[in-house]
Amino acid sequence: MRTLIRLVGLVVTGLVLLVVMAGPASAHATLLFTGPAADGTVPDGPGALTLIFDQPVTVTGSSVRLFDADGRAVPTERAGVGDGGRSVTAAVDQRVGGGVYTVAWQVVAGDGDVMGGEYRFAVGPAASTLGNGQTSSATKGVGWVTVLRWLLFVALALYLGGLAGQRLTHHHRDETTPDPPRPWLLPGALAGLVTTLGLAALLVGDGSPIRGLARLTPAALLETGPGRLAAVQVAGFALAVLAVLARRAGWGAVPVGVVVVAEALRAHPQGRQPGSGALLTAVHLVAVAVWVGALVQVLRTLAVWRGRPGVGRVLLGAYARLALWLLALVVATGGLSALVLVPLNRVVTTGYGQLLLVKIALVVVAAVLALTARWHLRRAAAAHDGGPPRPARLEAGVLVGVLGLSGLLTALPTPTDPKAPLPFAPPAAGPVVPAGTLAGQIGVAVRASDGQLVVQLSTPDATGEPAASQADYQMSAALADPDGPSRTLTLRGCGSGCFTAPVGWPEGTSRLTLTAAADGWTGGRTSLAVAWPPRPDPELLREAVAAMRQVGQFTLHERVTSDTSRGLGTPSALSLSGARFLDSEPYGSGQAPVTTRLDSTDGQTRLALAYPAESLQIELALAPDGKIIREVLAAPKHLITRSFVYPDHDAP
Ligand code: HEM
Repeated sequence: MRTLIRLVGLVVTGLVLLVVMAGPASAHATLLFTGPAADGTVPDGPGALTLIFDQPVTVTGSSVRLFDADGRAVPTERAGVGDGGRSVTAAVDQRVGGGVYTVAWQVVAGDGDVMGGEYRFAVGPAASTLGNGQTSSATKGVGWVTVLRWLLFVALALYLGGLAGQRLTHHHRDETTPDPPRPWLLPGALAGLVTTLGLAALLVGDGSPIRGLARLTPAALLETGPGRLAAVQVAGFALAVLAVLARRAGWGAVPVGVVVVAEALRAHPQGRQPGSGALLTAVHLVAVAVWVGALVQVLRTLAVWRGRPGVGRVLLGAYARLALWLLALVVATGGLSALVLVPLNRVVTTGYGQLLLVKIALVVVAAVLALTARWHLRRAAAAHDGGPPRPARLEAGVLVGVLGLSGLLTALPTPTDPKAPLPFAPPAAGPVVPAGTLAGQIGVAVRASDGQLVVQLSTPDATGEPAASQADYQMSAALADPDGPSRTLTLRGCGSGCFTAPVGWPEGTSRLTLTAAADGWTGGRTSLAVAWPPRPDPELLREAVAAMRQVGQFTLHERVTSDTSRGLGTPSALSLSGARFLDSEPYGSGQAPVTTRLDSTDGQTRLALAYPAESLQIELALAPDGKIIREVLAAPKHLITRSFVYPDHDAP
């Protein structure tokens, strides 16, 4: 027991040190969005491919590759990362023509696993529907990862458990018992060294250990965070080998403890709950290693002590008491990790959850076998020859199986909660229909694109920087289709003030009703029209601006409000020329990042403009001769409503 407490103490101290020194949390990465959109169609060949992940990733060699429909590679430049490691972009060297293209990607996730996958997109009218737009992320070389991690766990058990088992057997021997066998410390340390080298090769070899061996250099390994953790593990086992050779095997527990800490920092729970997640894994791993490794050492000793039932029983009894504590620790830390990683509603519906259930069932079998071994020993005390009881040998076998299953668990992606907030807004899929307004004092910027709605709320906070606002936002949304039926949208958070929902936009004008609230500000309800499909029309804006430049003096009636709950503001009138008016307008140059023609009403053509970087949305109503007759400009802090009255000779 004291050995266990020391080991746990050692690992916890190391963990605290490494958590302090280590970088950000790590975990499996999921590909959230792509540009061009997966299974989407773009009018022209893209100049670059963009992949956005939910976690920071690192790129290696050929991380993003593009293939045409015949499987021929289209040259792309080496991928670079941005957005704090979350987005990966690779420039496409040549303009590609119409057709279906496949993007094959692979990156190194925070947990050191090489993730990869494929998705398609189409250029031109060749393919309008390719699939459902789902991208998938999978660990590359799952088989290798599973087997190598399994061996790693066995190596840890042989070393740490071997030391614990050795103490136990030495404590319970007497002068008459033969020497207990030497624990398998050197085989454990050597196996650990080979295994961690294999895992490191897997990392630099993009999922292939063979390719990785050729590329395995300290520089290649130390380039990425996961690579550095792998290097720590290799060094840990190398030091343990040296410690055993120098007949100081006990000292080897320190570097092997550091291997456990590095493993805990790499593992899934740390990705979900930085700090405490690693602590859970570290304690879980040490308890598991001692449970399994000490059992192996005790069984080997009992085999040597066969014919000495008295000492054998005492030894097994002492191990059983230790194992009970270990079981409690393993179940508590394993159970907590499971709660952190798997939402309860996804336990039976995901491969990861199902495998976890199989693991728990096997642990129950191992616990029952452990109890049977004790009971067997007590009942058959007289008949027992002191050799390793059969249930205990079976228990060791089942536990080694559980180690293998755990290796597979570490290689699988953990289930994600489809309602969990996204770290940032999904990029638009194809052309956008923008809309904007104020709801009370809260700025509302709406972006409708293929299959999705993104709403960005903002408050006019004291710094005047809407993006810097950390207000706590709430929003609900209902959508009325063009033919009437209305439904409530299920929204998902996508950053501060950002909400998104999957929406299959029906053709025509849908009406979106939003209720927005933010702490400390007046919220409200507002309604916006979304005309689908998008009809990008930059030419129409240029025509309107050209028409306005010709206009002499006219009267601009304007109302400005910063809180729609108090009305649209006091009207004011201004006389100015068309050219002067345009000088103060964001679209005065005749250009806007997003320009979409909306449905015409009452003979007026309507145009929606958006300036995403400035959170500006503008809706213009145009007369048949192109002059503006109405404008609604929504900025984060105010809503401006304008009517244009032209002198009679200028009238449309
Ligand atoms: C009720 C009992 C247990 C539960 C609920 C449990 C649960 C878990 C969970 C959720 C993980 C995280 C896996 C990941 O990273 O995706 C884990 C890791 C692990 N568990 Fe268990 N476990 C239990 C018992 C055991 C036992 C009895 C053993 C071994 C004999 C074991 C060995 C391991 C190992 C080796 C890891 C890998 C740690 C790493 O990521 O490096 N577990 N366990």
